[in-house]
Amino acid sequence: MQRLLQTGLNAGEADGPKVVGGEGVHFLMSDGRRLIDGSSTGGPLGHRHPAMLEALRKAVEVAPVVSEGWYWEEREKAAEELIDIAFAGEHGWVGGVRFFLSGSEANDQALALAQALTGRTALATRERAYHGLAGLSRAVTTQPQWHGGLSILSGGVRPAPVPFAVRQLPAPEGARFGRPKAPRPAAELLAGAQETLSDAAAVILDYTQGGLYYDPAYQDTAAQAARAAGALWIADEVVTGLGRSGRWFAFQGAQSRPDMVTLGKPLAGGAAPCGAVVLSRDLVAELGGKSWQSYSTFRGHPLMIAATRAYLATVVRENLLDRVQRLEAIVARRMAEIAARHPAVVRIDGRGLHWTIELEGPDWRNWRADTTQTPLASAISDRAREAGALIGTSGEQTSLFLAPALIISEADLGRLLDALDYGLEAAA
Ligand SMILES: Cc1ncc(COP(=O)(O)O)c(C=O)c1O
Repeated sequence: MQRLLQTGLNAGEADGPKVVGGEGVHFLMSDGRRLIDGSSTGGPLGHRHPAMLEALRKAVEVAPVVSEGWYWEEREKAAEELIDIAFAGEHGWVGGVRFFLSGSEANDQALALAQALTGRTALATRERAYHGLAGLSRAVTTQPQWHGGLSILSGGVRPAPVPFAVRQLPAPEGARFGRPKAPRPAAELLAGAQETLSDAAAVILDYTQGGLYYDPAYQDTAAQAARAAGALWIADEVVTGLGRSGRWFAFQGAQSRPDMVTLGKPLAGGAAPCGAVVLSRDLVAELGGKSWQSYSTFRGHPLMIAATRAYLATVVRENLLDRVQRLEAIVARRMAEIAARHPAVVRIDGRGLHWTIELEGPDWRNWRADTTQTPLASAISDRAREAGALIGTSGEQTSLFLAPALIISEADLGRLLDALDYGLEAAA
């Protein structure tokens, strides 16, 4: 009987070698191989980064066991540093921060706060979104295979029900390489957005999931529609925030500013579970003297706080934002070649160090992970493993994503892209 119950990133029944350790950007596998981890959205500094080791060792020695319910000086310092370092360019906007346990929990709590503030229950996102699978974040995860219910193998799907309306805006279109359909202008795409959002507490938008990336005109148009409809706008920067975009936050690429920003994955440098919600100055003022009635024992845990402070310092010390911009140019050059060489590739899009490769195949809307057969994306990932890299598929049937650690060397990045190129031959 299976004792550990979990869902894999790649679909299908095949059991690959197991991860037994990590070093730099490599996973150490049970068959003795070293594979570049190409799917490390939660590991911006790779494995066992010296700054993380030092911060955690120290925290274990000196930190109290203190729940979210007690004020603790170090947690306050972490909030100050997050605001002073990461939001340094946003001092006119930023209000306050609350720490959480994961990106899913941060989104759940941001959405719940939006419901409380607006008195509305409907929530909104865009097509093909993924915002997590806990509480309200599950409700706005609209990728059909991540419904939070049961995939009944070869027999249909039983999604977990949601007791309120979930609205979807059309997703941004286009892509950098391949044969994407010509993108419609944001004003046309989002012409009905104000109407769609008219009863929504909030619209939450992210900039990678489903292979749909940052578009400044889309952001400004959606933000305007949300404001006019009386809905709050939550920027889900769980993946894009804190380095991966090549700037602190993806939303900084346009004029508009959200009401809330949610963070997770890289926030604690991959060394501890983490999440955060950052509220605008206006929203903090709107809270006035009201207490944000929510609590969880381990939120802002001392290990997370130590790791977060060390990560922020490392981004600055190692100049990681510039580094990501430099590596983005290298990836873009290779992706142009890969799109041209593999006819199965329909579109490739990406920003910074997050890229999605979408393949010819069945429409993603019909994929519910309810088959035991290995989908094409997983077969490509299996083949890429032979060439030395682990590439994730987000559980989708026709798309793969690349998100290596931000500290990856140019040589290892080249190897990762070689492995992708080699893996794609499985599509032929
Ligand atoms: C955009 C986005 N938001 C939220 C989440 C949820 O974060 P977590 O898995 O840490 O709960 C994810 C996870 O992949 C994500 O990609």
